[in-house]
Amino acid sequence: MEDRHGHRISYLRISVTDRCNERCRYCMPVELQEWLPREGVLSYEEILRVAEIGAGLGVRKIRVTGGEPLTRRDVVGFFARLCAIDGIEDVGISTNGTLLANRLPDGRNISEALVDAGVRSANISLDTLDREAYRAATGRDFLDRALAGIDAARGAGFEKVKLNTVLMRGGSEAQLVDLVEFAHRRGLLLRFIELMPVSSGDVLTEANFLSAGAARGLLEEAFGKLEPRPDFRTNGPASYYAVGGRDQLVGFIGAMTNLHFCDSCNKLRLTCDGKLRPCLGSHLEFDLMSEIRRGADDEEIASFIRGVVERKPREHEFRDNYIPGRRMVAIGG
Ligand code: 5AD
Ligand code: SF4
Repeated sequence: MEDRHGHRISYLRISVTDRCNERCRYCMPVELQEWLPREGVLSYEEILRVAEIGAGLGVRKIRVTGGEPLTRRDVVGFFARLCAIDGIEDVGISTNGTLLANRLPDGRNISEALVDAGVRSANISLDTLDREAYRAATGRDFLDRALAGIDAARGAGFEKVKLNTVLMRGGSEAQLVDLVEFAHRRGLLLRFIELMPVSSGDVLTEANFLSAGAARGLLEEAFGKLEPRPDFRTNGPASYYAVGGRDQLVGFIGAMTNLHFCDSCNKLRLTCDGKLRPCLGSHLEFDLMSEIRRGADDEEIASFIRGVVERKPREHEFRDNYIPGRRMVAIGG
């Protein structure tokens, strides 16, 4: 599928729940902490049907997000069915990591069960290594669980485990160097993400914004010049740099400051309440759940999806005084 601006869509990001066991300030503002009712969330069957039809239209990669996807019941079984869909080559999870080390009744931990189900990559959020700062940022004293989850993921045999840090002045700012060292010791790819105005939290202010460029500057004070590595790409919009004198790369996701950020966009998003969104940074969304529940056949769903792709904007609207309309937690970072 290709849109009017030459974006080729091969990547579907699916939020399976708006629920989360943490309360990150940039994702879930306190005043918006009420959950969707169960019937307001797509069932696994409904999601799998969309994924199958998407695969028929050229979707090759799927990332499952939340909220925290591991809080949804029987999610490992869902992953196994998702990975088995013809045409889907790569399934990943985005998670806060806190549940990845938990044991299932059969003795495996969740990370191992996900790998057995066919999940190839895990992107784990980690904004700080300081217990008190972690508690303040996430509303939960779960740093130890997140670290145990990261180690469980490393031990489980994912093809890729990445760490994601949202850049915030007065937040992750003081932790950038420690996080790079941590990622190096653990052999993990770390990416820094610019804060986006995706939810209405009081922390999404200009004063809290730390650009990718400023973060690079701070890292260069500690590590010397970071060498751009434009040849290195993952499937996403990150730009990678080599840390001097090591074989370590760090990524920067400059959603706000990189003016070419959207050029290579290959994504569609399915929210847990069944809306198809052509862009994270646009209010456009299309009610696929109603289509499904009114009994649309596969061909109708396919043309609905194609219609959404046709309306994909050229770029996000985050730089145009974007007023967030929805909680990040319900869209799925
Ligand atoms: N800006 C940037 N990234 C965000 N995430 C959540 N909220 C925001 C925001 N306002 C990130 C999380 C996680 C991913 C799912 O989305 O840190 O890495
Ligand atoms: Fe939960 Fe992730 Fe949002 Fe934090 S950023 S509240 S861990 S979904």
